[in-house]
Amino acid sequence: MSMHAAITGWGMSVPHKVVTNEDLSKIVDTSDEWIVSRTGIRERRIVSDGETTSTLAAAAGRDAMRMAGVTSADIDMVIVATFCPDRPLPATACLVQAQLGLTRAAAFDVAAACSGFVYGLSIATSMIASGMAKRILFCAADVLSHYINWTDRNTCVLFGDGAGAVVLEATSQPFGLLTSVLGADGNRENLLMVEAGGVCLPITHDVLQHHKHQLTMNGREVFKLAVRGMEESSLKALSNAGLTLADVKLVIPHQANRRIIEAIAERLNVPIEQFFINLDRYGNTSAATIPIAIAEAAAQGRLNHGDIVLFTAFGGGLTWGSAVVRWGTPAKE
Ligand code: ACO
Repeated sequence: MSMHAAITGWGMSVPHKVVTNEDLSKIVDTSDEWIVSRTGIRERRIVSDGETTSTLAAAAGRDAMRMAGVTSADIDMVIVATFCPDRPLPATACLVQAQLGLTRAAAFDVAAACSGFVYGLSIATSMIASGMAKRILFCAADVLSHYINWTDRNTCVLFGDGAGAVVLEATSQPFGLLTSVLGADGNRENLLMVEAGGVCLPITHDVLQHHKHQLTMNGREVFKLAVRGMEESSLKALSNAGLTLADVKLVIPHQANRRIIEAIAERLNVPIEQFFINLDRYGNTSAATIPIAIAEAAAQGRLNHGDIVLFTAFGGGLTWGSAVVRWGTPAKE
């Protein structure tokens, strides 16, 4: 019998330092009014000395494990979704494994940018379904501020740093991921990219001078493709699960821009109140937006046993994906 992978614990961690729109208006030509009206973002968290992708991921993971009631020795595998690794080598998951003392766990990263949570949830669930693992700690963490060009008002107002984590446990009961649809279009990598710092274009003086080691984006194009990608993959994932939007209690979308979320709600004909939105306080934290939203939605009583929940995301790559989940903790077997 193929096993299911229930989400039995969750956690989040964001840096202490808050950067408001007002703060940003002192370093680039922008305003709180422009940022709020075009994006819905009011403030974001930015790392200070000592805070990195792995420390945020480990803090979120620690909380998720505590909630699930599992110890370090119980975890078979740790996966981190990120495009902001602490170092090129090793994988950030190895650093999280060391920080949490997960001595029995295999460890690797998933690179799918803002779609990292949906991609990683699909991989972790498959690992459990195939019997490769019984308990997985899955963290999604990004320190976007590392890649921000703080002189570019088109991008610097959009992003923030943070991490979320979930514990997935094998169960014969139908909880956790029911279906997911994943997609990518590498021909459009130039719409959202960090051009330098890898093998193609190493860091040189010229690269630094022209900000090629930092994130660039064609906002208008990404906006249109994000709406379409999340709408289409959501409908496909639901249809593959034999469900419709009427079955969905809560939609947790990638938190990039309130207007993107409103456009999806309109196209799907789902009231905006059914979407969980917290981007006003964190901005776009890439792979971390969905698990941070999970932690806050659960704390607010918006995720209840048996609920059908839809996660949908879009990001660099380009990548996108949607996941249909039955929320709830299975009875002890
Ligand atoms: N403050 C003031 N003015 C600004 C700012 C700013 N921070 N940023 C851009 N502008 C200006 C532009 O320069 C432009 O001026 P111009 O007309 O004189 O050239 C004007 O505002 C309008 O720019 P647009 O790009 O048309 O503004 P738009 O309404 O499209 O909003 C935005 C821009 C917010 C970037 C929007 O396109 C967007 O959200 N796109 C999607 C971005 C996104 O979600 N990316 C992440 C998804 S993938 C991932 O999560 C990594």
